[in-house]
Amino acid sequence: MAASLHRKLSDQHDFSHSLRFSKYFITGASSGLGQALATEAAAPGITLGLVARRNNRLLEISEPLREKGATVYLYPGDVRDGGFLKEAAGDFETRAGTPDCIIANAGIRGALDDNPDRRQDEDIMDTNYHGVRNTILPFVPILKHTGRGTILVISSLASFLPLPGAGGYCASKSAINTWCGSLRYELKPFGVRLTIINPGFIRTEMTRDNPYPMPFVMEAGEAARLILRKATGSRAVVSFPTPLAWGLGFLSILPAALRESILTAILNRKH
Ligand SMILES: NC(=O)c1ccc[n+]([C@@H]2O[C@H](COP(=O)([O-])OP(=O)(O)OC[C@H]3O[C@@H](n4cnc5c(N)ncnc54)[C@H](OP(=O)(O)O)[C@@H]3O)[C@@H](O)[C@H]2O)c1
Repeated sequence: MAASLHRKLSDQHDFSHSLRFSKYFITGASSGLGQALATEAAAPGITLGLVARRNNRLLEISEPLREKGATVYLYPGDVRDGGFLKEAAGDFETRAGTPDCIIANAGIRGALDDNPDRRQDEDIMDTNYHGVRNTILPFVPILKHTGRGTILVISSLASFLPLPGAGGYCASKSAINTWCGSLRYELKPFGVRLTIINPGFIRTEMTRDNPYPMPFVMEAGEAARLILRKATGSRAVVSFPTPLAWGLGFLSILPAALRESILTAILNRKH
């Protein structure tokens, strides 16, 4: 009942974001949430700079965006490569001007594993932490200079607490939230906004093979609409869906031993 009401409310379109932002720079746009964010933003007069490694996917998804009237620039490449993102940011700046909404969305989770291998954890940290820094940093001087702009960082509710089998993912999201929280102090006096977005489960390639139940799971379009609607405010952090955010938030403040017993009991019951 609560979940369906939540879905109905989230499904209502709110195009106020289209009035606020005209130039978006979005990483991880070749699938899932990034593609959905680009789709929601696309409209006549809107310019999109889209980053991902799979060029064929970028080409495929850009067609419907252009049909919706958006101007689209594609940047096939890897967010782990700071030099590439510096060039992409410079090119977007030259062609379209300063983006008023930068969405650092690209991310990976890696295989769920009780015995995480170190190389995978390094990839996760390189993408989810360094990749986000690489995305934001080239724009910081110009955003400060113009005194406007919004940065949205797509993190996760997994940043709230250590979850079993996902140490690298939880650590990377928690680390980037801390780094971004610190950057906010620097940006705020210049009128530049930074909002950390912590979503729960979203149906995308990342969660396609999840073996466990996904409470309050959302479709990517629904999550993208909610994010762009909330991004119109000046909130430091947006976490959703509310029941899961509160539940995990509560677990995160419990003593570790009690939290681990509760999580273990929940996971054992679900399997
Ligand atoms: N799905 C969920 O339940 C969920 C929940 C909370 C938070 N999130 C976060 O939401 C964001 C989007 O994830 P998603 O669910 O939409 O997953 P997804 O469908 O797998 O999309 C991930 C996107 O990131 C791109 N990407 C990955 N590594 C990259 C790299 N090194 N360089 C450039 N692009 C890269 C991928 O494109 P290429 O492979 O083409 O490079 C793809 O476009 C992630 O940050 C994720 O952590 C997801």
